[in-house]
Amino acid sequence: MLPQKLLLQVLFAWTSVAWSPTNSYAPAYVTCPDVSLVRDASKLSDSETEWVAKRTEITKKNLGLFLEYSTSLDSSEYQSLLEDDTIKIGLSFSGGGYRAMLSGGGQLSGLDNRTTGAFEHGLGGLLESSTYIAGLSGGNWLVGTLALNNWTSVEEISTSDTIWNLNEPLYALGGENYIKDYEYWDEWIKDIKAKQKAGFEVSLIDVWARALSTVFSESAEIGAADTWSTIASSDVFTNAQMPFPISISDAFISLVELTSTDTTIIETNPFELGSWDPTLDAFTLVQYLGSNLTDGEPYDSQSCVEGFDNGGFIMASSSDVFNIPADDLGEELSGILANAIDGITTTSVDKAIYPNPFYQSAYGTQDDFANDKYLYLVDGSEGGENVPVAPVTLTKRSTDLVLAFDNSADTSDNWPNGASIVSTYERQFSAIGAPYSFPYVPPTSTFLAKNFTHRPVFFGCDATNLTELSSIPPLVVYIANSDYSFASNTKTLQLQYTDEQKLGMIQNGFEVVTRNNLTEDSNWATCVGCAAIRRAQERAGIEQSDVCQQCFTDYCWDGEV
Ligand SMILES: *[C@@H]1O[C@H](CO)[C@@H](O)[C@H](O)[C@H]1NC(C)=O
Ligand SMILES: *[C@@H]1O[C@H](CO)[C@@H](O)[C@H](O)[C@H]1NC(C)=O
Ligand SMILES: *[C@@H]1O[C@H](CO)[C@@H](O)[C@H](O)[C@H]1NC(C)=O
Ligand SMILES: *[C@@H]1O[C@H](CO)[C@@H](O)[C@H](O)[C@H]1NC(C)=O
Ligand SMILES: *[C@@H]1O[C@H](CO)[C@@H](O)[C@H](O)[C@H]1NC(C)=O
Ligand SMILES: *[C@@H]1O[C@H](CO)[C@@H](O)[C@H](O)[C@H]1NC(C)=O
Repeated sequence: MLPQKLLLQVLFAWTSVAWSPTNSYAPAYVTCPDVSLVRDASKLSDSETEWVAKRTEITKKNLGLFLEYSTSLDSSEYQSLLEDDTIKIGLSFSGGGYRAMLSGGGQLSGLDNRTTGAFEHGLGGLLESSTYIAGLSGGNWLVGTLALNNWTSVEEISTSDTIWNLNEPLYALGGENYIKDYEYWDEWIKDIKAKQKAGFEVSLIDVWARALSTVFSESAEIGAADTWSTIASSDVFTNAQMPFPISISDAFISLVELTSTDTTIIETNPFELGSWDPTLDAFTLVQYLGSNLTDGEPYDSQSCVEGFDNGGFIMASSSDVFNIPADDLGEELSGILANAIDGITTTSVDKAIYPNPFYQSAYGTQDDFANDKYLYLVDGSEGGENVPVAPVTLTKRSTDLVLAFDNSADTSDNWPNGASIVSTYERQFSAIGAPYSFPYVPPTSTFLAKNFTHRPVFFGCDATNLTELSSIPPLVVYIANSDYSFASNTKTLQLQYTDEQKLGMIQNGFEVVTRNNLTEDSNWATCVGCAAIRRAQERAGIEQSDVCQQCFTDYCWDGEV
């Protein structure tokens, strides 16, 4: 038996990391905190601002190391910038199922100094120099897996036999063993019934959440009780040893078709869920998601909820592809679920259902957010932005460099063609896109003709050419999935990979981001360094060195279509 003191410590450790109070998938009613649960989106949260200040101390040091040891830049070119200014880097990983998770995983590992070879023939140290990391759908499975597992590395995961074991399809994790398959489903259905019994609407996305957690956690039990807000109190996050993770979904409003200029982008970060888009323009605390609020107030001091923000549920909300019309898998699974769970909603079974924290709080321009008792979330890509650059090009976050990883399936053979980036570029000119700024980009035909889908390209190289945008955007480095050592254009709905395929996808992603381990361009790390310091140089009125000018000649889009 555990000594009582130790037991208490263990229990305390759980509660202090905002583990679900029921120690299961079902949320619980708790005493409301003495803070407001909803706020307007006029500024970054104080929690984020404080956190970024702490992270900046670390990224400054790491960027200094990257520039010193991985580039051929002379320290006189950046030393004063690091001392007098702050350079913020944001990373953005697209959706695309396991293809995006694994390709993105390889790309991320090429920036991660913990990866074997990333320092010697890659961009190792850039991950350590980054402030923000956003993921959408499959890209968020990557970001979420790391964030919910103590910021473990992709290299570590790729040899783990629990996390990212993709040998069996998500809907039949027991494989050919039907009894085991049944046991998984039985367990999930029990979890979901417990959530329903506690007073919450449930849907297919809850099953999806439990299935995803089983693959993305050390064990199914951990996945059931682990909450997204756990991240905010984990040591690795509070010590700012990882970038600020952001999960992206879209709001589904029944009468509005999901197009880039009508869709409200919802972000979930370790502290808050909400939107910068003027349509909603509000945030709520993630830890208390599930609480029924009216104009931001709970019914009484005991009616708040914790444990609703299950980590798998947040990832499932970002990757909910089931509401796409004519989705056979969604329809079939919904049928199974209707039989298994009495009283389950039939109208919204294919959406993630949240008690609406913004009910009657009317901050934004879209009335539905104030009128509906529920907030419905769907896959973050449905509004057209599959590479989630919105959170890292938000003017208020003032990033200087964004690396946009596009693992979309735009072409008939599952390669990207830049469509997401084009959609982002256009969105900023509509009312909904006003909080963001994005550099000029060419049409997708130019992406293909100029081979921007086979080699990295820089957008927004020259701030003096960007003054007509709402604010000076970061320089954007666009990096597309491409075939080096593995045919990484697998189908989005391929839900099963052998270990060999999994490792092949990851290695290929590493080669994509490192320009084939720096063999295609031994200057590549130097050029990314030039991109990182560009905005700070412009602010300080410093001319680029010849080395950087050459890089910009090689990598900047020249404005031709
Ligand atoms: C590139 O580097 C990675 C990581 O060090 C390694 O696994 C891979 O084999 C290398 N690829 C090539 C083509 O050398
Ligand atoms: C990356 O690792 C190398 C080799 O271990 C080290 O010299 C360098 O300082 C590290 N860079 C960062 C940013 O930590
Ligand atoms: C999390 O990772 C850090 C550093 O990698 C390690 O020191 C720590 O023990 C880990 N924490 C847990 C709870 O595993
Ligand atoms: C929240 O309000 C809805 C609609 O009024 C109600 O059905 C539900 O039981 C309430 N849920 C909780 C968790 O209080
Ligand atoms: C585009 O890149 C691919 C792969 O590197 C290469 O095979 C092809 O020749 C390039 N095409 C052009 C037009 O440069
Ligand atoms: C920026 O503007 C200058 C001067 O108008 C022009 O020569 C240059 O081509 C532009 N650069 C880009 C990348 O559009």
